[in-house]
Formats: sequence, structure tokens, C-alpha cells
Amino acid sequence: KIIVLDFGGQYNQLITRRIRDLGVYSELHPNSISAEKVKEMKPTGIIFSGGPNSAYVEGAPGCDAEIFELGIPILGICYGMQLMTHHFGGKVEEASHREYGKALITVENNSLLYKDLPEEQSVWMSHGDLIKAPPEGFTVDATNPSCPVAGMSDESRNFYGVQYHPEVRHTQFGDDLLKNFAFEICGCKGDWSMANFVDEQVELIRELVGDKKVLCALSGGVDSSVVAALIHRAIGDQLTCMFIDHGLLRKDEAEGVMETFSGDFDMNMIKIDAQERFLSKLKGVSDPEEKRKIIGNEFIYLFEEEAGKLTDMDYLAQGTLYTDIIESGTDTAQTIKSHHNVGGLPEDMKFDLIEPLNTLFKDEVRKLGTELGVPDEIVWRQPFPGPGLGIRVLGEVTEEKLEIVRESDAILRDEIKKAGLDREIWQYFTALPDMRSVGVMGDARTYDYTVGIRAVTSIDGMTSDWARIPYDVLEKISTRIVNEVKHVNRVVYDITSKPPATIEWE
Ligand code: XMP
Repeated sequence: KIIVLDFGGQYNQLITRRIRDLGVYSELHPNSISAEKVKEMKPTGIIFSGGPNSAYVEGAPGCDAEIFELGIPILGICYGMQLMTHHFGGKVEEASHREYGKALITVENNSLLYKDLPEEQSVWMSHGDLIKAPPEGFTVDATNPSCPVAGMSDESRNFYGVQYHPEVRHTQFGDDLLKNFAFEICGCKGDWSMANFVDEQVELIRELVGDKKVLCALSGGVDSSVVAALIHRAIGDQLTCMFIDHGLLRKDEAEGVMETFSGDFDMNMIKIDAQERFLSKLKGVSDPEEKRKIIGNEFIYLFEEEAGKLTDMDYLAQGTLYTDIIESGTDTAQTIKSHHNVGGLPEDMKFDLIEPLNTLFKDEVRKLGTELGVPDEIVWRQPFPGPGLGIRVLGEVTEEKLEIVRESDAILRDEIKKAGLDREIWQYFTALPDMRSVGVMGDARTYDYTVGIRAVTSIDGMTSDWARIPYDVLEKISTRIVNEVKHVNRVVYDITSKPPATIEWE
């Protein structure tokens, strides 16, 4: 495995990702990690990441100097290279002008890092400092007019550095350079896969948990499902999952979750039926923010209440992903964002946390889920908001309105799937505005609800465009909804992007 030490750069998560894509396991660690700890982990290589600081400034983030003495190959990227230079007595200075974006480098010395790579390469730079003179023992590998040391190496000690960012796609031959580091320099084999990840994690979880017990809040979403499947693989019946049905789930969703995990996986499941509790709390409330708050808080109270009854649980498993950690801005995994979704749990609980997915990205979690036998419907589940249908029934939430959303949404999902569009459209659902309009059915006047269809394409939910669903598919959906769902006489299609609209209607 190759470990990456985090010096605060914006691409750090990408470095571990690229290395894993090469079939070599990689994880990020804080720069403060001790040499002793590094030695215990037995990495075959270490990468020092980029970062926003200047290596020569008092108090700049450094690392345990003993790490340089472990005999493990090191690659410094940007700040990482400058730190190495500073440590070994080379000269790092502020650049006369900062360099951001595309630059052309010339390879002068084909050290192992540049093995079989061409002389001219277009790379991605992002730095305010540069190396004036490499430390003793280092040779300049690559240069560029405004940056005399774009790459350097001390092959006798296996220390390497590059000023630019090989991990970003804009860098030509970036992957090849990382490959050279991993395979030629560190001697990695490239045979790591999700199956190895499962084996390693199973062993770690068994070691950590021993004969103690683990509780997992399972929502049926991708992350919590995969974490439950992984821990179950490790410790079987020592795991108990708690599933809270707040009555705001989609049609057949609660049954599906129970069937999969209690049935197929044979897990210890506790199902909390809280539909009435949530509905009564929401009675008479029509403000969207207030509804969100009520649902989120109620979820936490209920979980605390129920978890409190389980006196023999020691650990709480969470499906925290790498991106969650990055978003919350910490360098280690321990805090939970209670506002993140209704699965966000309070921080002062009596449990110790297990977060075995906290080195992975969403698409890696999907791969892991498939490896563990989690069914496709869950692995490829579209995003679903924590407050659920509570924010898709606009205005006051009643059981009658929930039923309309559940039924119309089920038809929409069925037709999208039949049309083969389910992996193409990022998110799709129906919403029920708090309005009725006049229609005619079987010669009689109707005065009924309007259902809105929302379907969007997006990468991350931050921005989105409305999906161009073919007219004939829309026609089928509309016909089926007005025919099959009681109290609906009109269907509309939302054709706004985000911004200015949001994806959800509340
Ligand atoms: P908006 O409506 O803000 O939604 O454009 C962006 C994405 O986030 C989802 N969403 C939520 N997810 N808790 C969640 O876990 C929430 O309170 C919440 N609100 C919106 C939404 O479904 C979309 O994918």
C-alpha cells in the first residue's frame, strides 16, 4: 500500500484515488502521523501531498523527520517536494510570479520516475513557491522556464519530487508518472481490488470489535447498506441494525429494506414503526424549513431513545464517506455532521464509532456493495432526501397526500426503468403541490390534485438540468398516473434547471 500524507492541498483525495485505480491500495493520513505509526502500517511508498503553505515559513506543516529514515520511497508533490527540499537543505523561494494552470516541462533526466516518458509534457501547475536549488544528492529531472526544478530525484535514497500535479487529468502522463512511482520505484504489484479491501476490512473489524457488539442505523441508502453488509460479513450476529420507518419512504421501500437485510442477509434487524409519531408531529405544519427540522430532530430523538434501550452495544457503525469528511473540513474521521441528513446522529452518544468506508468515494462504495452481494436496486439507488416524502408533499403532510406521492412516484419509477433510462437520469420523482384544478373524467367535472414530475441530470446535485425524457415515455407516465392514482386529474413536467430552481420542490 501507498500512504499519502495530507498537507492540506485541494487535490489530496484525488491522489489516493488515482493510486487505487492502479490496483494499489492507498489511504490519506494527517501530516502529523509519527514515523513509528507509519512503520507499523508497512507502506511500500509514501506520497507527500500539496498544500497551501510555504515550507520555509516558521510553523509551516511538517512531518516527523524520522519518516525520511525509514528507507521507504517518498514522492513529494508540490508542497510535498518543497518540504523535502527544505528538510534536506535545498532552497525554496517565493516565485516571482505565481503559476497556475497549464505549463510545458522538459524532461532532462529520465530517472525511474520518468522512465519511458517523453521529453516534452504538458502539466498542471498550481504554486506560489518554487525550488531554486535542489538539496545535495538530488538531480533535476525536469524543468520549465519559470520553474527550474519541475521534477527531481535522489535515486540512491528513493526520494522523488514534482512541482506539478500528476493526479489531475490536465497533466499529460500524470498517471504514467504515478505508475512509475508505484510499480518501478515502490515495487507494488497492482493486484489490489475491492475483494482485497473486503478481506482487509473484515480482519480489521474483527480485531477491533472482538466479542463486543455493533449497532448500525440502516436507512436503506447506499452508504448505510454497504457498511452494514461489510460489518455483517466480519462479525455476523454481533451486528444489529436499526431501521426507522418514519412513514415518509417511497412505495414498498420499508418492506424492501427488511426483506433484503432481514431476509437475504439474515441480519439482526430492529424495525421501529414510527409513522404515526412523525405524522402527528407534522400535523398542521406547512412551512418547509419547519417540516425539515421536525423530521430531522424527531429522527434523532427516536434513535437515541431506541439505542438507549440496547444496553449491550459498544460500537456505532456509520457509512461516512471520504467526501463527507472532506466536506466537513476535518483531517480525520471522528466528527459527524448532524445536519447532513436525518441519519446524522448526535455527537455525544455513548458509542465508539466504526466508519470503514471513510477512505472511499461514492463509486468505490458502489463497487464494494456489489462485491458484498448488495442488490443493484440498493447499490444504484438514486439520491433520496433524509426528510423523504415529507418535503415532496408540499405544505401540510397528510396520509392521503403521501399516498398520492407514493403511488405516482412508483409509476414514474416503473416507466423510467422500462424505458431503460434509470441509470441515465440522476434523480427522478413526483411531487404534490398544494393545489387542485378542474378536469373532466367520464363526462363529469372533477376538482382534484395536480402531480408534478421532476427528473434531472446532474453530477453531484449542486447544479442540474431537467432530463429530456422522450415524449412517448412522458405520455405513458401521465396517462397511467391520472388513471391509476385516485384524486389526481393533471400531470405537469418541471422544466427548470438548478439554479434558479432547486431539485426538490421544498
Ligand atoms: P436541492 O433540492 O437542494 O437538492 O436542489 C439537492 C440534492 O440533495 C437532496 N436533498 C437532501 N438530502 N437531506 C438529504 O439527505 C435533505 O434534507 C435534503 N434536501 C435535498 C435532493 O434530493 C437532491 O438530490
